[in-house]
This record gives sequence, structure tokens and C-alpha cells, in this order.
Amino acid sequence: MRILVTGAAGFIGAHLTARLLREGHMVTGVDAFTPYYDVRLKRDRWAALAGPAAGGAQARLITCDVCDGERLQGVFAAFRPECVVHLAAQPGMRASLSAPFVCQKNNVEGFLSLLECCRHATVTPRVVYASSSSVYGACTALPFVEEQPADRPVSLYAATKRANELMAHTYAQLYDIPCVGLRFFTAYGPWCRPDMALYLFADALSQGRPLQVFEGGDVRRDFTYIEDVAEGVVRCIGVPLQARSELFNVGSGRPVALLSVVHLLAERLGVTPRIETAPLPPGDIPATWASLARIQPRTGYQPATTLEEGVARFVEWFRAYAASGAGSGAVR
Ligand SMILES: NC(=O)c1ccc[n+]([C@@H]2O[C@H](COP(=O)([O-])OP(=O)(O)OC[C@H]3O[C@@H](n4cnc5c(N)ncnc54)[C@H](O)[C@@H]3O)[C@@H](O)[C@H]2O)c1
Repeated sequence: MRILVTGAAGFIGAHLTARLLREGHMVTGVDAFTPYYDVRLKRDRWAALAGPAAGGAQARLITCDVCDGERLQGVFAAFRPECVVHLAAQPGMRASLSAPFVCQKNNVEGFLSLLECCRHATVTPRVVYASSSSVYGACTALPFVEEQPADRPVSLYAATKRANELMAHTYAQLYDIPCVGLRFFTAYGPWCRPDMALYLFADALSQGRPLQVFEGGDVRRDFTYIEDVAEGVVRCIGVPLQARSELFNVGSGRPVALLSVVHLLAERLGVTPRIETAPLPPGDIPATWASLARIQPRTGYQPATTLEEGVARFVEWFRAYAASGAGSGAVR
């Protein structure tokens, strides 16, 4: 299948591209290499996972801002994708508070530009796009099920992701574009973003700095190993749809307290953690937990990586790459 991946040099995008190539798909990636975090990390990640260093088939990577509709339309015309996996976005709840217009532009305008390209494409592709567990916002009923209302976002980031779901629903109805929204839950693993908890913890631990955990480490996240995330995406690329627009949780279904993750990391890194506790910042939510009751029976999705295995693989990469000073963790 011809698959266009947006945000292809990103954490999920590069791993997914590698997986799609292994399955024999033809992949074209686009990425704007936004400066939210070190662009060198994005380039190294792409090269290692989907470029020359990976060996085997390679994907083409085009530097393109998805907000540039004319240029994106050119990519569509040349590649004629049968499926688009849209991952390009400004991630991060905190970044949406400090740079709201950047978040709005990349997440809302970028997605509209993509949907318009799909609407005018000669072959209408299936759109599989990144939503987020953050759309559940102030919902306290756990686990999060797709049927529950997601109308109480607590950050602008969450609001843009929910807007994407509503936009997809609208375009699916108006223009018969099949759309599949994936609510990702805290992906982690090698080549992850430097603004993510696991990376921040590992960075602090390896430098002997105290690390901050919220609410005494009692905050729970449904950590999902990156290969399991890619597996979920692949399964949703192929799932027979029951409606023109559908939504699926892609998580591990096993929430873990942040404090346990810190101890696991510290053990792997061979250090004793110095822990400071802080209140939950505005825009954050105390717990996420994915119900897999929809995705599992529909796609056979079964996350396979335990937290112990996943953390071990992350630490191996972190030691070899990040701790050597390559791809600094600077976040705008
Ligand atoms: N990683 C997670 O745990 C997680 C959880 C929930 C949702 N998501 C969503 O999944 C997607 C991928 O996340 P990620 O962790 O890989 O983030 P990432 O920042 O590593 O990847 C996103 C990529 O998109 C690119 N990009 C941003 N704006 C662009 C634009 N306008 N045009 C073209 N490229 C652009 C960036 O350069 C980056 O390489 C995002 O939509 C994110 O919101 C991720």
C-alpha cells in the first residue's frame, strides 16, 4: 500500500515508518522539523530507523509543513497515497499553555490542510490520525472508554485534539473520507521526545539531579511501549470500518504510578533517586487508563511489551545516545 506519514521524523512517526517498511509498504514521510525540541534528534532518529543506517527498504522524507496546503497537495499528486497516517502536530500539554498559537496552527490548521488535500485527491485515502488520551480531560471514570463524553478538556492541546476528532467526523460525513482517530496513551521507548517524563527522569537521574514527581508520584499513566503503539496504528490502517469516522484508544491498558517508573529507571541506571514532590500542574490530569474493549475485538490488538522490558530498552538507547550529549534535550 502507498502510505503517507506526516510527522514522520517524530517519535511515533519514525518507528511507524520503520514498521511499515518492514511490512513491504511504500512510505513517503513529510516533516517540517519544527524546533520544539532538538532537530538533530529528529534527523538522527529518522536516519537510524528509516534511513540508510536502518538497512533494508527506505522511505522518502520530504521537508514540508502540512499547513502549506499547496505544497502538501503537490506531495499528494505525486505520491497518490491510499492511506495517510497524520502524526504531525505540536505535542505536549505544557507547550500548549506557553505557546498556544503554535499549538493551534500545527494541530488545527495543519489537520484542516490535510483534510482538504484528501478531499481534492484523485484517490481518496483513508486518514488515520493522532488524537490523544488527553481528550478525556476531567473525566474521572476509569478506564477511559471511547463512548464517554470527551467535552471537558483541561488544556489547549487536548482541545485541539478533540477539535481534530470533530473535524474528521465532519469531513467523513461531507466528503466520504474514511477517518480513524487514535487516542494514544503516553508512548515511550528508544528515540522518545526529550520533554517526556521517562526522558526527563532518566536525564535527572543520570546527572545526579533531584527529580520532580507530581502528587508524591501517585500520578498514573498508561505507558505504552512504542512498538505496541506502532502495532496499534498498523492494525487500524487495516481495520474494516463500521462507520465513516471511528475512534480507538491505543494504550497498554495497564496504568502505572510514576513513582514505580522512577524506581525502575533508577535501578536500571544503577543510581539512587533523589525525589522532590510537586503539585499537579494546571492542564495535567491525575490518571490515564485505556480501555481496550473496542480496539481488541475489532483488530486483535494485544500490547506485548512489559514495562520492565520497555524501560530496559529505553535505558539501553538513552545510555548510548542521549547521555552521550548527542541530540540535546532542549525543549522550546
Ligand atoms: N507520544 C505520545 O505519547 C503521544 C500521546 C498522545 C498523542 N500523541 C500525538 O501523536 C503524534 C506524534 O507524537 P510524537 O510523540 O511522535 O511527537 P513528535 O514531536 O516527536 O513528532 C511530531 C513530528 O511532527 C512534526 N511537525 C510538527 N508540526 C508540523 C507541521 N506543521 N508540518 C509538518 N510536520 C510537523 C515535528 O517536526 C515532529 O517531527 C502527535 O500528533 C501527538 O500529539 C503522542
